[in-house]
Order: sequence, then structure tokens, then C-alpha cells
Amino acid sequence: MFDPNCVCFFDTTLRDGEQAAGVNLNAAEKLQIARQLEKMRIDVIEAGFPAASPGDFSCVQTVARELKKTTVCGLARTREGDIRAAAQALAQAENPRLHVFLATSPIHMEYKLKMSPDEVLAEIRSGVSLARSLVREVEFSGEDASRSDPEFLIKAFKVAIESGATVLNIPDTVGYAMPEEFYSFCRRVISEVAAPEGVIFSVHAHNDLGLAAANSLAAVRAGVRQVEGTINGMGERGGNSAIEEVVMAIKTRADFYGLQTNLDTKRLYPVSRLVARLSGVAVPPNKAVVGANAFAHEAGIHQHGVMAKRETYEIMKAEDVGCTPAVMVLGKHSGSHAFRARLESLGYNLDDLQIQKAFEIFKKLCDEKKEATDGDIEAIIADQILSVTPECHYELKDYTVHVGSDLAAAAVVLSRDGQPVKDAATGNGPVDAAYQAVKRIIKFEPKLETFKITATSERSDALGEAQVVLSYLGLRAQGNGASTDVIKASIRAYVNAVNRLYSMAAVRDIRINGCAGAGEAGAKGQAGTAHEGR
Ligand code: KIV
Ligand code: ZN
Repeated sequence: MFDPNCVCFFDTTLRDGEQAAGVNLNAAEKLQIARQLEKMRIDVIEAGFPAASPGDFSCVQTVARELKKTTVCGLARTREGDIRAAAQALAQAENPRLHVFLATSPIHMEYKLKMSPDEVLAEIRSGVSLARSLVREVEFSGEDASRSDPEFLIKAFKVAIESGATVLNIPDTVGYAMPEEFYSFCRRVISEVAAPEGVIFSVHAHNDLGLAAANSLAAVRAGVRQVEGTINGMGERGGNSAIEEVVMAIKTRADFYGLQTNLDTKRLYPVSRLVARLSGVAVPPNKAVVGANAFAHEAGIHQHGVMAKRETYEIMKAEDVGCTPAVMVLGKHSGSHAFRARLESLGYNLDDLQIQKAFEIFKKLCDEKKEATDGDIEAIIADQILSVTPECHYELKDYTVHVGSDLAAAAVVLSRDGQPVKDAATGNGPVDAAYQAVKRIIKFEPKLETFKITATSERSDALGEAQVVLSYLGLRAQGNGASTDVIKASIRAYVNAVNRLYSMAAVRDIRINGCAGAGEAGAKGQAGTAHEGR
């Protein structure tokens, strides 16, 4: 039932967020994020763009099957094939929504779509009608709405309503809008469309000028009741509107907005950590709401003020966003119940087999170091549980390195489809030597775009967590690896990224070394991103 005082949140981390350069989540990782978002009581999850690739299709299908409360949405262009694929992927959803989009701005209509405004209106009518005949809830987005002629956008929305859409989205696709201007724009569109009861307006802002949250809030003030965004603002270019920022603005300034949301904001911090770790896109320390320093006071005068009265310098409580210190430290003597409880509070929702495997790895780790921090546990899950999918081509089995004063040598053993494959190489350091050896084994040379090692805590016994981004034949894939040994972590990350390159190649029908790889859910596929063509 539509409540005019409630703002709904539509999360597109798994679709628009995953369009960020170098990010490709596998099916297990996407499902983890979706489950956590449902626990946070997000209203709608856009799980992917089913026509883009078999991976996207099966991811939307899996999320649709799994989630029982949250509405699960699939994106489609106005093309019949896209709409039928999305409807099919959503067939088993308890609460399905089909999201159809078509550009409405003059520049997109003329140069990208090569369609006249009348043709665009006709296409909206046929696309939305078909979608509505297959799925009971349909959202229509006028792509690049903020640069559209408001009169034309109003016409387009009227056609979408007549054809059965009940959610009308106003995207600021290229992050061009200014909050005051966008407020007036949305207000005019909402008032002149004069939608019947049951139809709501939505906003979808991008952050190219750092104004996504401000524009989303301006739209809310203008009467929009659905905000689209991603966790941590993840997305291509400057990213999308960060859900945590918009929801906390509405909550913290309830006096100003007079609105509510359905979200359990105490789950924001765990979900932010989960998305950062699985995507490999770190949260900057000064990031609003979920950054490591969001609640840290360095200046003495501030510390003094906060001690005297918290509200002097703090407008939100860290507990309200779930940023609380771990209540217990896990170690050698911790049992599986405590481990399972910790996983849950960290935001993971694993099946029994995954938990059992993670517990065994955790126990081994506790033999090496006395206690395991939250960061250690999160690193184990990302590296050894969620990144392991049946589509894995290569696995690290063994390695040795010898480091001299000017040169290092490494021998690496991987397994490929269960068979050991090994080689050796030299390099200017142990990681370089190991990477050269891996390249000899895999027989192709991906470009190392990014290589980072971080520690999971401030302690000297922390796990080293390596992250790499590799590119090859126009594909980019990230990989994670964790170990108390940073060389092992680095090789694991490299091998993980190689596996993901194979998965991406498979869905795009690109052959690596004569091998089409194994199709994996989650890889970005043929239709590429949602903004290519029509
Ligand atoms: O930014 C955008 O316009 C989009 C649409 C597909 C809604 O992501
Ligand atoms: Zn977008």
C-alpha cells in the first residue's frame, strides 16, 4: 500500500554498481549482497540486466528465487528480446518488477537511438505494454531525463502510465543536474503528469559532479518517493547516489523532510564492508556515513566537546549505522556457534557447507595466530569461500620463491581442472617472479592494471590481503587473495582474476588460448552495460 510519507529505496549495486570499471561479481558474491540488502529491508533490488549475458540472466533468476520479501527487479531495453528475457528471469520471484528504459533527451534520441520523438513514444508504448503483459509491476525510466525537454518527458511518462507502468523514474544519467534546478524540474514533471493514485515517481542520480545525494534529496523534496542508488555509491565514472547517504540524511533531518523509510540503518555499515570487500572497491576513509573516519574525532577541541556532549560535533550515532566495535574476539577456543554468529553479524549469509569450510580455514588460521579479527574472517570468506565457484579454471597448489640481492626466482604449481601444471620464472622481486611463472602456465599475458596489498588489521600477525585488476582483450577482472604470507596472497589474487577473465571471456564468446572458458553467472556479457545502444 502506497504511503506518501515513506521513501522507498531501490538498490542497483548489482546492476548499475557492477558497471564500475574493473568490478565483476560472481553469482555467489551477488547472492550474498542481495541477502544482506533484504535483511536491511531494502524495498527493491535490481539484480541485473538479464539480456546482457547468460550470467546476468541466471543471477537475476537466482536472486528472484531466493528473496521472499524484497521486490526483485530486472532491467530491459524496450526491445522484445530484452523484455522477454527479464520476464523469464523474474518468473519465480515472489515480488517481481520489470524495469524498462529508453532515452528521452534530444542528444540521446538523435545520436544514440537515431529515432524521432514520435518513434520514441511509440517504442515506450510497445515496450511497456509488453512488459506489463508479462510482469505485474513495471517501472519506466526516461534515460537522461534531466537533459530532456520536460514537455517531452511528461508526454513519455503519460504514455508509460497508459501502457501500464506504475513507477516512473527520472534519471540524472550523466550527473549533470543542479539540486535547485532538479527540484523544479521534478516538481513540474510530477505535477504535469498528474499521475493516478498508485503511481510513484523515482529518482536515479549519478555522481559526476559530486551531487548525486543532493539531487536525490532535492527530488524527494519535490515529491519523488523512490530513491535509486548503490551501496558506497559504487558505479561507473563518479558512481551512483550512495544509499547510505540519502537514507541517513532523511533520518537525521526528519525535522526537515518529515518522512520515513523502511530501512534498518543498523545494517548499513556491515553491508558497506561486504560490498567493498567483494567488489574490491575500497571505501575512502572520509566517505560520509560508512568511511573509517566518519565517526572519528581528531581535533582536541572536538574530542573535548564530544566528551562533554556527543551532539556538539556528532549529528548521527555510529550505532545507528551499525558501526560498532566487535563484542568478542574469536580465537583458537571459539566454537562453531560463535563463529557462525560472528559471520552473521558481519553480514554473511552462508549455507552450512560454506560455514563448515570457513570454520576449518579459521581453525587453521588460529593455529598460526592466536586470534582472528573481523578483517581476517572477512578476508577468508572473500578469498576462499565466495570466490570459489565451479567455474574455477586454476587453483594455486604450491609455490617456492628464492630472493637474491638483484633477482628473484619462483616456481609455481597450479591445478587446472584437477591436473597439476607447473612452471618457473625469474623476476625483479618474489611477486613479479611468481606472476611471470603463472603467465607461463596460463600461456597468455594479461596486463596487470592494479596491484595492492593491505593488512586486515593493525596487528603484525594480520592477514595480507592482495587485490589485483587484470585486463586482456578488452576484458577487466579483479581478484582477491588473503593469507598470512603476502606472496601467497598475491598469487591467489592473480589466479582469482585469471579465473574471472575466463568467465567473462566465455559469456562474450572470446577465446583465450583457444579456450572459451566456463560460463559464470555474474560476468558482464554481450550487451555490455545498460547504456549501449537500444
Ligand atoms: O543512469 C541511468 O539512466 C540508468 C538507467 C538504466 C535507469 O542506469
Ligand atoms: Zn544509472
